Order: sequence, then structure tokens, then C-alpha cells
Amino acid sequence: MATSIPEASIQQGPKDGGVGIALNADTTRLRAVDGSATLASEGPSHPEFLLPVFDLAEYLSGRADPGASHAQCRALAECLRATGCVVVRDPRTSEADSKRFLDMMERYFGQDVAAKMADVCPELHYQVGATPEGVEVPRCLADAECLAAMAGQPAASRATLPTGADAKWRFFWRLGPRPATTAYAELNADPVVPRGFPEWTEVMDGWGSKMLAAVETAAEMAARGFGLEPDAFTRRMRLGPHLLAPTGADLGVHGERGAVLAGWHYDLNFLSAHGKSRFPGLAVWLQDGRRLPVSIPNGCLLLQAGKQLEWLTSGHVRAGMHEVVCTDATCAAVTRARAEGRPLWRVSSTVFAHVASDEVLAPLGAFAGSPGAAEYPPTPAGLQVQRELEAIQLKAS
Ligand SMILES: [Fe+2]
Repeated sequence: MATSIPEASIQQGPKDGGVGIALNADTTRLRAVDGSATLASEGPSHPEFLLPVFDLAEYLSGRADPGASHAQCRALAECLRATGCVVVRDPRTSEADSKRFLDMMERYFGQDVAAKMADVCPELHYQVGATPEGVEVPRCLADAECLAAMAGQPAASRATLPTGADAKWRFFWRLGPRPATTAYAELNADPVVPRGFPEWTEVMDGWGSKMLAAVETAAEMAARGFGLEPDAFTRRMRLGPHLLAPTGADLGVHGERGAVLAGWHYDLNFLSAHGKSRFPGLAVWLQDGRRLPVSIPNGCLLLQAGKQLEWLTSGHVRAGMHEVVCTDATCAAVTRARAEGRPLWRVSSTVFAHVASDEVLAPLGAFAGSPGAAEYPPTPAGLQVQRELEAIQLKAS
């Protein structure tokens, strides 16, 4: 019953040669293709590409009439299908929250290595606390198929070939309640609270829960847009091992042009949310293979599809490939920060929203009957995560 699944509406965007998501007339109430809120403000690949910004305020307030609300949901779902991404503006988040979070994480990553190593838990596959730089290995490095895909990319959209493990630290902070019983306890361990940061729990839970709420709203809208039950995604996310997972890359050390802070990869979870970073460098690949350097508009979040969303939709939405690499824009931001005496740690503001570990991943609704469904056999989400972690060497196989 693919008839309930909206089809593509990618058209030429408002700038010559640019390609955007041109929303249908019935979705023009959205802040769509808004020149003040565009992505791709840097980099040579496709600087004209625009993504619409989905303002969640009306949907959340219930003020939108049902027709407009449904049109917004369909447009959001279609944007996910066509690009693997959506940009949302959520009235529950504020730049002050983001600033407080980024300030604290810059201070955390700026500590000496010994202090941070006290927060490292390799026995838990690094799924809580800190992961040092040089541990997480881009999956592509050991995957001939992935390397071949990179080699086959057109020059303008070619991913940067990593030469080793990622040059970034990370901190995993669990968000939300845990299940009373689970077959995947190692994914649901107690949190690590670093010494010397009395505000840690409040700041992490405060910012993380707001980002997660935005993901849940977008997930509900996407479910409606795909013709699924409104809670088809969100009920599977309940008690999931959601993570606030900021990365920290020391651009004072790794800030040379072309340095790979996070090699080309997709995320293993359901949806990832990215707040605005103080240093550019993130690039995403659209479903048609084009590379899009992103600059997240102020006050917005970029959501990108992960493997679990691909699984639940039988590949209708593909997990979005992305990388973080030092570009000319990154180097320019480093020069400015250095001149202003600001920290040179690039902190990413990232939430990994997950399907609960004990839920079974399988194509939902109409997607169960799609031709590619056999590629997504019923698999517990916890098992899928374990397999992915083995592939990126965070968990010994
Ligand atoms: Fe990622």
C-alpha cells in the first residue's frame, strides 16, 4: 500500500541552479525555503541547497487546523525521505540552553587528559562516560563496500577518506528513564558524573531532554506523514537508551584543513539531533548522493535519520551519511576564536534518540509490504546496536 507514502517533490529551488525541497502549495504555511534560515552556507559542494525549516510551534500548540497539520507532517516525512534530514525550530529550546551546555562542555573537554580518563568505561563499550580520541574507528576503514562507494563518488561530493580513528573525544550521557528489566543491560548502565562539575546533571538533563522532546515531536509528525499510527515511532522509543553525546575535537591540535574529526558514517540509532556548533565542519549526504555542508540556523536543530528509522521504514528513509572535517570555514573560525581568546574545542551538541533495546525492529505498516522489506528482518534493537558497535570497534565482538 505504497499509496499512502508521499512521493518526492524535489524541485529547483529559489536560487538559480539550487535544488531545494519545494513544498506543495498546501504546505506554504511552513517556514519553507526561508533565506534567513538556510543550510549550506559554506563549502564548495552545493552552496545553494536549501532545506526547509519546520517550525513545531503550531503543531505543538494544536492551533493548526487538521488539514494544515497533516500537510506539515507529510512535508516533514517527505523531507526525511528525500534528504535524510529535517531542520526544526522548537519553541521549547532556547539559545541560552545551548550556550550553557556548550560552555560547560568546552570546559570539560579542555581539562587535561588524566582528568577525563577517570570518566572512561571501556568495559561498558564506552556507552556511558567519555570516549578518548583515537578509539572510534570510521566503519568505512574496514569495509571494502564502503570504501568502494567512496571511490565511486563524484569529486564534488566525495567523502574525505579517513586515515585512522576519529580525532574526537565524546561523552555519552543517558537521557530519560531506564527499563526495569532488559535483555541488554550493558546499554542501560548508570551515568558517569565528572568530578568538579556540580551543575553537570542539571545542564545535561536540561538541554538533552529538550533536544529529545524535539525529536519525539518530529517522530510523531513523521509517523503521521508516513500514514502510520501517530505513536508508531514514539511508543517504540519509550525507555530507549537515548544519549546526549557531545563530541569534543581540539582544533588547536587537529585544526588543519582536511583533518577528519569524524569519518564518513551513518548513525546506528533512530534519529540524531544536532544543535548548532561554534565551529563549522559537519557535512551530510542527501539521499541522491550529493554532499551538503551544513550550518544550522540559530535556534534550530538538524535531525538526521539513523539506521533504526531506515529499518522501520524498510529503506524508504535511508540512514544519512555524514562526516565532520576541518574545512576552510572551520579554519577561519579557529583563527577568529584564537584572536578572541575563546576555547578551540569544537563541541558538537548531539542527541542520539533510540528505539528501546527490547523492541523488535521490523518494517512498519505499509513498509512491511515494500519490495525491500526482506533486507530488514525482525531484529531486537539491542542486538542491532551491539552489531553496529562491533563494526565501529567500540565493543569487542
Ligand atoms: Fe554521526
